[in-house]
Amino acid sequence: MSGFKLVGIAGSFNRPSKTLALVRHVAERASDRYDFTSKTYDLNDVGPSLGSSLWRKDLDEQARRVLDDIVHADALIIGSPTYKGSYPGHFKHLIDLIDPHELRAKPIIITATGGGDRHALMVEHQLRPLFGFFMAYTLPTAVYASDRDFTDYAISSDALSSRIGEVVGELAAFFPEVKPALAAAE
Ligand SMILES: Cc1cc2nc3c(=O)[nH]c(=O)nc-3n(C[C@H](O)[C@H](O)[C@H](O)COP(=O)(O)O)c2cc1C
Repeated sequence: MSGFKLVGIAGSFNRPSKTLALVRHVAERASDRYDFTSKTYDLNDVGPSLGSSLWRKDLDEQARRVLDDIVHADALIIGSPTYKGSYPGHFKHLIDLIDPHELRAKPIIITATGGGDRHALMVEHQLRPLFGFFMAYTLPTAVYASDRDFTDYAISSDALSSRIGEVVGELAAFFPEVKPALAAAE
C-alpha cells in the first residue's frame, strides 16, 4: 500500500446510482495505478442527520465519520448528479459543512452524471468553482457521463473510459505511480 488515502463521495441518494457507479469506477482505476486505499460513499452513507444539521457539530456520528474521511483524504473524487443544471441541494449542504481551509491544496477529481448531454458543462460551471472556493486542486480533466454511457449501472462507453484514464493520469502530478504498465494501457 502506498499509504495514500482516496475518498469518493457521490451526491446521490439513489441506489443503484449512476453517480456512485462512476465514482467507484474512477476510484478503482486510480487505486490500481497509485495503490491508494480507497473508500466511496453516497448520501445514504452520510445518513439522515445531514438534512437537519445547520452546523457540523449537529451531525450524528455516522455523518461526522464520512465528513472526517473526506477532509482527511489525500485525494478526493467528487461525483454529483445533475439536478436542474447544477448539483443537488443536499449534496451542497454536505459540502457547506466543510471548513474553508480543510480542502486547501487537495487534489480533487470532479465528475457528474446527467440524463443527457445538455448540462455537460455543469462540471466546469458548477463543480469547479465550488471547489475553487476551497482553494483545492481540481484536476484539469473533468468527467461528465450521461445515461447512454451506462449499461446496467456499469460504464459502457469507450469515450468516457478514455476520459477517465486521462484524469487518473493527471494524479501523477501528486502521487507516485506504482503500476506504470497499467498506465500505458489506459
Ligand atoms: C430532480 C431531478 C432533476 C434533474 N435535472 C437534470 C438536469 O437538469 N439535467 C440533466 O441532464 N439531468 C437531470 N436529471 C437526471 C439526473 O441527473 C440523472 O438521471 C443522474 O444520472 C442521476 O444520478 P444517480 O443515478 O446517481 O442518482 C434530473 C433528475 C432529477 C431527479
